This record gives sequence, C-alpha cells and structure tokens, in this order.
Amino acid sequence: MAHRWSNKLTHADVTPRAAFLNRRQVIAGLGGLGLTGLAKPGAAQEGLEPNTWEEITSYNNFYEFGTRKDDPAKYAGALTTEPWAIEIDGMVERPGEYDFKDVMAEMTVEERIYRFRCVEAWSMVIPWNGFELADLLNMAGVQEGAKYVAFETALRPDEMPGVQFPVLDWPYREGLRLDEAMHPLTIIATGIYDRPIPNQNGAPLRLVVPWKYGFKSIKSIVRISLTEEEPPTSWNMAIPGEYGFYSNVNPNVDHPRWSQASERRIGGGLFAKREPTLMFNGYEEEVADLYDGMDLAKNY
Ligand code: MTE
Repeated sequence: MAHRWSNKLTHADVTPRAAFLNRRQVIAGLGGLGLTGLAKPGAAQEGLEPNTWEEITSYNNFYEFGTRKDDPAKYAGALTTEPWAIEIDGMVERPGEYDFKDVMAEMTVEERIYRFRCVEAWSMVIPWNGFELADLLNMAGVQEGAKYVAFETALRPDEMPGVQFPVLDWPYREGLRLDEAMHPLTIIATGIYDRPIPNQNGAPLRLVVPWKYGFKSIKSIVRISLTEEEPPTSWNMAIPGEYGFYSNVNPNVDHPRWSQASERRIGGGLFAKREPTLMFNGYEEEVADLYDGMDLAKNY
C-alpha cells in the first residue's frame, strides 16, 4: 500500500493508542519476511515503546537547518519537497532521474518499529513507514561489480540556512557497502506514525539503517550512486579519527571523547537511568554475519 496517508484521516488520527500498540506487536513479528528474529533480540525488542510524535519531530539533527536540536523543526519547513526527484546513477542498468511519486507507486510501504541510536549517545524508538532500499535498487538494476552505494542530500542554500556555515563539506554524503544496503532491515523511510515524514526528519525520503549510528541515516536524498570504490562520507571526511565508514553501534568501541556503552533514551526524563547500549543496536542476530572476520574496533 503505497499511500496509506492519502486518506484525509490518518491512521494515527483514528486509532486509539491501545489499538496502535496491539497492531504494533503483530507487526513486530514480521514473520513472512524472514525477519522473525526482529521480534526477538532478547529483552531488546520486548516492550519496545515508541517515542511520541512530538519527541521524534522536535529533537533532531539536520545540520543543513542549523546545529541546535530544535533548529530543524523551526527551519526545515522551508524545504520544497514536491516535486522531488532522485538521480540514480553509476553502476546501474537503468540510470536516470526518478520522480519520487513514480517510485512510491511501485513500492510496498510497511511499518518498521526500530531503535534509533545517535552517535551522541541518545536514543529513541521510531515507528517508521517505508520500503526496503533493496526494492529501489532493484528497480534501477544493480550491475555486476558494484560494491557500494553512495547517497547525497539536497543542497539548497536558499532553503537551508545552515549550509552557509562550513560545519560539513556540503552536500551531506553517506554510503553503505552493497550487502548492507540490500539487507532487509535497511529501509527508505517516507513516513512516521503513518503520516508523511516531516521535513525535519528528512522528507520526502531518508535512509534508515537501524544497526548503525544515526548519522548514517541520511535525510532528504536526491542522489544514489552505485560504485566500485568505497564512497567518501561527510562525517568521516570531517573527522576521520572519530567517525568511520562502518559506524556500527558497538558498546565496546568508545567514541574518542565519550563512552558508547550506554545511552540516554529521549523522553525518559531528567533522572532516568541510562540504558545499556546493545551490540549492533539490538540487531546482532540479523546483521552480525555481514561482518564475519572483520575487526570491529579497527573498522569502526
Ligand atoms: N542527514 C542530513 N542530510 N543532515 C544531517 O545533519 N544528521 C544525521 C542523520 N541524517 C543529518 C542527516 C544524524 S547525526 C542523526 S542522529 C539523524 O539524521 C537524526 O535523525 P532524526 O532527526 O530523524 O532523529
């Protein structure tokens, strides 16, 4: 169902919270997708309570609109998200400019409730709506020999007050290894709580890779390139000693300036106990084999 929110009343408007939570438990099974493990990772997944809409949409990182947590909610409204095109190029069979609406007509949108762990050691649980990145890549047809996927955010100085500051080398860039990109947990999010994704969260489409630190989840994507070489990525270019290409959530590998062993859950209140950070953010069972034989301390 591509456009669940095209009805005037959204799911969130008409479904009482208790009913939402029941449905969530059913979906968390994701049995048919071969993702039954998703519901399991020990205590990690049980009782995953999503953050509120208000929390998810008011505490953001989207430096194109400023570096304060409330800047994106204040300024991202200026971003024109319609029409929107995504250039898919590099090692693909069908390169070109894909209209976002045309893409959506082909995709199956589903709900994925994922933990979201920022490298700054705060976390949320977010009920995304989206489709698997693999479906989009297959639409363009990945050529043999492609090994990486590079992503780019829109760069619009007229609409993005933050890009006048050289915080990063704009446009924001990210990348994944092809097998990470094709993993069924990796999604392109287009909604939250069954509503269109707000601009501050990366409208109209952003990446979500739940086992990696949040900065890998690049927002407002305008370009996807299939490459043979590992692509340059914004945070790695800015501070290579602190932010690696992989950036898998790992409680055993500290950031040079702070511990990654625990996290502060947004919405938990000022005196809430920090929670232990889980290996691969709780998705170890699903993704650990992608990194078999790799030294995760070196490939941070
Ligand atoms: N994408 C772009 N284009 N610009 C950014 O500044 N910030 C990243 C990531 N994607 C960022 C981005 C970081 S550091 C995080 S933690 C997440 O977006 C935050 O996503 P959220 O605001 O939806 O929680």
